[in-house]
Formats: sequence, C-alpha cells, structure tokens
Amino acid sequence: MTAERPEVEAAALPHEGANAHSAHTIVIVGAGQAGGWAAQTLRSEGFVGRVVLVGDEAHPPHERPPLSKAVLSGAAAPESTRLMKPEAFDALAVQWRPGVQVRRIDRAAKQVLLSDGTAQPYDKLILCTGGRARRLAVPGADQVPLHTLRTIEDAQALAPALRPGRSVVVVGGGWIGLEVAATARQQGAEVVVVETQSRLCERTVPAEVSAYLLALHRAQGVRVLLGAGVRGFARAADGADGADSRLEVLLADGSALACDTIVLGVGLVPNDELARAAGLACEGGVLVDAQCRTSDPDILAAGDVAVAPNPWAGRSLRLESWQNAQEQGMAAARSALGQAVDYQPLPWFWSDQYGMNLQIYGMPTPAHRVVQRGDPASGSFVLFYLAGDVVQAAVGANAARDLRFARRLIEQRKTVDAERLADLNTPMAKL
Ligand code: FAD
Ligand code: NAI
Repeated sequence: MTAERPEVEAAALPHEGANAHSAHTIVIVGAGQAGGWAAQTLRSEGFVGRVVLVGDEAHPPHERPPLSKAVLSGAAAPESTRLMKPEAFDALAVQWRPGVQVRRIDRAAKQVLLSDGTAQPYDKLILCTGGRARRLAVPGADQVPLHTLRTIEDAQALAPALRPGRSVVVVGGGWIGLEVAATARQQGAEVVVVETQSRLCERTVPAEVSAYLLALHRAQGVRVLLGAGVRGFARAADGADGADSRLEVLLADGSALACDTIVLGVGLVPNDELARAAGLACEGGVLVDAQCRTSDPDILAAGDVAVAPNPWAGRSLRLESWQNAQEQGMAAARSALGQAVDYQPLPWFWSDQYGMNLQIYGMPTPAHRVVQRGDPASGSFVLFYLAGDVVQAAVGANAARDLRFARRLIEQRKTVDAERLADLNTPMAKL
C-alpha cells in the first residue's frame, strides 16, 4: 500500500540530539494499535531509516473498542476504527506487510522469519503482538459455533445475530461479556450472561463497581448468572427453525440454557509464543522494563502482550487497555531510538454500556478507603479510593469531568479532605 522509502545510508541519518540512534531498520511485529503507534512515533521522532510493520491481519492499524460497541451495533463502519487516515498512513512510508505472520525470531542473526518464506533483518525489533480470545476446552466446544470478539471479522460475524427474537448466551461477565450484552440488548436480543466468579469484572473492578454493573444489566433485562460454571455445549434437539438450529450451554449445576448464539468472553491470552520460543524472559506475557526493553536489549515490547512494572499497581502486570496500547507503543518507539523513556502510566480505561460511560483511573484495591461522591441510583457518581488522605484511584459513571479532576488528584498525590470530596456542593476544581 505504501511507497517504499529509498534506502537511507547511515550518514544520512540524524545524529546528535534527541533522535540520535544507530538503528537503520526497525521491525514492528503486529499492526494493531500498539504497532501502529510505534510506527507513527518512529517517524514523528524523525527516524528516517526503514520501518517494517508486519501484521497478520488484512487491515491497517486500527482500534478495537468500537468492535463491541458502535461497529457491533452497525452504527459505525469498520473503516472508522483506523488509527489514521489512509493518506497519513501512506505518508509514514513504512513497509506494511499485511496478512504476513512472523514465525520466528532469530536473535543471533538479528532477523525475523516470515510466513511468506522470507527473512527480514532488524537492528531493533518491537513486539506488539497483542493477545487473542481465550477458548474453553469443554465437551462440545468444537461442535457448535462459538463466537469470540477480537477482530473486525469477529464483529461482522456476530452482528447479524443480535436482533429482536434472537437469544444470546454470553459466557464470561468481563468487559467483552458486558459490552456485548449491552449492544445485544440495545439491538433487541434476549441475553443471558454466565459468569463463573461471584461478581462481574472481578479482574478489573472492586466489588461495589461489580454490584453497580450487575444492577445496570439486570435493569436492562439481562439475566445474569453468577458463580455459574460451563460444563459443555450442545445442539438442542428441537431446532427452532430449519436453517439455524438452537444451541445449548450446559451448566455445571446440570441445567441448560437454550439459545441461538453463544459468545465467549472468557479472557485474553497474550501472544507471547514468538518471544518465548526466542528465549526472551516471559511470565504471562513478555517481560519489559520501564524503557519497554525485553531481556534482549535490541527487542522491545508494548501493548497487551507486555508485562511491565507499574508503580500504581505496585507490581508488574499487563495493562489490557486502549491507553496502554497507544502510550506504550509510542514509548517503545522512542526507546528503540535511544531516547530516555520512563513509562509508568497511571492506568486508565473506560467502558460504554447502554449510554453509560464508566471510567477507571489507577488500581483500586480492597485495602483502600472508599469515599463516594454522588449516588449510583442517580446515574452519576465517583468512588474515590484513598490510602490515608491521598487519592490512589477513582471509578466513576457518567462523571467524566469530575474524573478528570480525580486524575489530577491522583497524579499529584495531594492530600484531600474526604468530607469535601464526598460533598457534591464542593466543586472538584476546589479540591
Ligand atoms: P492488538 O490490538 O491485539 O494487536 C496485535 C496485532 O498483532 C494483531 O493484529 C495480531 O493479529 C498481530 N499479530 C500477533 N502475532 C503476530 C505475528 N506473529 N505476526 C504478525 N502479526 C501478529 N480498551 C479500553 O481501554 N477501552 C475499551 O472500551 C476497549 N474496548 C475493547 C473492545 C474490544 C472488542 C476489544 C477486543 C478490546 C477492547 N479494549 C478496550 C482493549 C484494547 O483494544 C486493547 O488493549 C488493544 O487493542 C491492545 O492493542 P495491541 O496493539 O497491544 O494488541
Ligand atoms: P476479562 O478478563 O475482562 O473477563 C473474562 C471474564 O470471563 C471474567 O469475569 C472471568 O471470570 C470469566 N470467565 C472465565 N472463564 C469462565 C468460564 N469458564 N465460564 C464463565 N465465565 C468465565 O476478558 P474479556 O471480557 O474476555 O475481554 C478480553 C479482552 O478485551 C481484555 O483484554 C479486555 O480488557 C478487553 N476489552 C476491554 C474492554 C474495555 O476496556 N471496555 C471492552 C472489551 C474488551
């Protein structure tokens, strides 16, 4: 798609200052959100060498959040998810290799081996391989159609099933589960969510937010089963219509849920196999430092696949979020260019369900003291999570403005008066 840049001699590269570097060829594996931002940043930081962007999807770099929201409902076209306009992508003059997979990293020869049989040398390699939807190894899982949602094609395959008169069972009450449930309800389908834990989104939100999400979905007519295991899938004997026979989700308690469509939203598996096979340090993803460097200084990683130290969490973790994909992708690119990088972001992510906008800053834990501002029943509230008198994290619904101030409080580590924080008559700006 893009015009290839003329070969650039080392002497033509910028030398001193912020853009000084010795890399002539930087290869990015994965043309998703992190990979796209890495490519963009290499150019915006003045890198004039060769940038090779290898992505096994057919699409140019794009964002996934709309795939469970506006693209799934049909309100937005898949093309609207693109990270940049075609002209802007062309202007980057990267060698984009769509539909090509990196099969192996040869660290000794500093090259990657591609699915088209060629080898691509690199000076620096940035792994942005993201993750894939986890599957369930239970009886029947390979005999009935099971939807997952990660790609544009996944959204296009699921969308027609979300309509009045159709029933959907969503296995997993995490973010995919809840956003698919919300979109499906809005499209008129009947929805059951089956979650194995005792509360929704247990991985990412505290119990009081799980309770809020549960009430929200139940109020919208979603049947939510908590603490419910799935023991298998089957085709129901009494197919409702000829073309599209009914399916069954078999639950651990011996009951079965009949439905037309099954969606799995049971978590993400990081695509770290390439890194592991190459002997890079991995632990539930590719281990990187605050400079986005893996255990090989010429290989960096960013986005959903990268496990990075995070001071806000007090540990290393993968941040599976839009913010991290963008900012760590940019940080990895700058680091590859030899710039000083100290990537330790305040985690932030959001979810949109039924017109409700939920945002989370920081990492709330049960050890925090919770201060509530506003009433969840009113539809708009913020929960602050304090250690002593310092706000460490905040979660809010339909409260974007207050949350922007909350973010500042967290980042500035300011002490606050909890009573004033809870008082809606005290503007956040005054805190
Ligand atoms: P990906 O976007 O997964 O990109 C990785 C790319 O690498 C893929 O194209 C993959 O095919 C490719 N690849 C992998 N291995 C190879 C290989 N060997 N060779 C070549 N290519 C390879 N986050 C939020 O904060 N808010 C939201 O509302 C939100 N909504 C979401 C909705 C959905 C449906 C999904 C799936 C995610 C959502 N997220 C949201 C999360 C966010 O989209 C991800 O965190 C982000 O996409 C991660 O970007 P990434 O570039 O690391 O990985
Ligand atoms: P998730 O980790 O958020 O949730 C998975 C859920 O499935 C958990 O609640 C878990 O307890 C449950 N589960 C696991 N096994 C189960 C089983 N056998 N039966 C029933 N429930 C089971 O992962 P999810 O929702 O699949 O999302 C995948 C990725 O997409 C994540 O990285 C997520 O962050 C991202 N995403 C983010 C969104 C957002 O931030 N708004 C929206 C949609 C997706």
